[in-house]
Amino acid sequence: MSDVFVPMDNAAALRVGLTSTPKYLPVWYRYDKAGSVFNDRCLSDNTYYYFYRSEISTLSANIEEILQDVSEVPTLVDMGSGNSEKTRGFIDALLTKYKSVTYIPVDISKEFLAETSDQLFGIYGNKLCIKSIPGDYDVGIERLRDMPGVKVIMWLGGGFQNQKYQDQIRRLKLLSNVMTDRCRLIISLDITQNKEQIENAYLDPTGISADLYLNAITRLNREFGCSINKDTLNLEAEYIHNDNHKETSFVTLYGISKENQLHHIPGLGITLNLAKDDRLYFHEGKGVSCKYNVDQIRTLALCAGLYLENHWTDTNQHVAVCYFSTQKTK
Ligand SMILES: C[S@@+](CC[C@H](N)C(=O)[O-])C[C@H]1O[C@@H](n2cnc3c(N)ncnc32)[C@H](O)[C@@H]1O
Repeated sequence: MSDVFVPMDNAAALRVGLTSTPKYLPVWYRYDKAGSVFNDRCLSDNTYYYFYRSEISTLSANIEEILQDVSEVPTLVDMGSGNSEKTRGFIDALLTKYKSVTYIPVDISKEFLAETSDQLFGIYGNKLCIKSIPGDYDVGIERLRDMPGVKVIMWLGGGFQNQKYQDQIRRLKLLSNVMTDRCRLIISLDITQNKEQIENAYLDPTGISADLYLNAITRLNREFGCSINKDTLNLEAEYIHNDNHKETSFVTLYGISKENQLHHIPGLGITLNLAKDDRLYFHEGKGVSCKYNVDQIRTLALCAGLYLENHWTDTNQHVAVCYFSTQKTK
């Protein structure tokens, strides 16, 4: 199989997903403005979602050490920036050392990105030079290519692990190509391996996370002229454990159709045929929300020509904040 990546527009990607076996809606499609708001609600209101609290505590306890070998003012790049809440810790730390910082948030949720950038301008004014990149991660990485100087690239909040494994490697390779030996890449990864905890986090009993996944259907109905009833799907989340170094553990997330249903989707020019008990997945590939052990993280990095220089974890061992470089420095 060729590993040449051909980018698709939204409609083409949805057509592929909804006509393949099994059928799926890509993860990124859940993130329009409403999806980003649901994402924020998951962080604040889903008490089962351990990742958020563990990541915040790991970052805040170690931020000085994480930034300690950044010896000149960097450009801060934020992949899948969302509400930029966690990045603000980095911005604040850098602004204690430098007069101003350039911040490049990259996010597919364009309206939400514009609102967040306005809020950040309101907080930091001219001390933060914000150069937003609305669009896909690949668009953002391509724009970094001609950017000189030291870059600290962050991928926080679980956005990295939501990609299929092949895309994780592909995008890490692209990033390593735009990094010099003085650039650093910081990614928060989920290292939890407890099935019950994970399944509760991704399909919490209060139903908050379901709103986020099902936003992909609301958006499909609105943008492409169909009327799929979300209540005809029973949502399931299943944790699949994997010790193999060349893969990771992951969550698979799908809706099981309660009935036979046929939906013409005029905007895509296709008919979605879901028989009773058929699954509609809410991610590309085998799974979403990958879970890693440290060997798996090292292997992933090496596949892309990167080194895991250091990592920090929380007391509950839920999150590893990982620090990568293009050349081994220790
Ligand atoms: C899990 S949220 C993390 C948000 C934030 N970094 C945090 O720490 O809370 C993932 C973010 O990535 C964005 N996103 C998802 N898929 C994307 C893609 N293919 N390209 C660019 N942004 C994407 C979403 O809009 C969302 O803001």
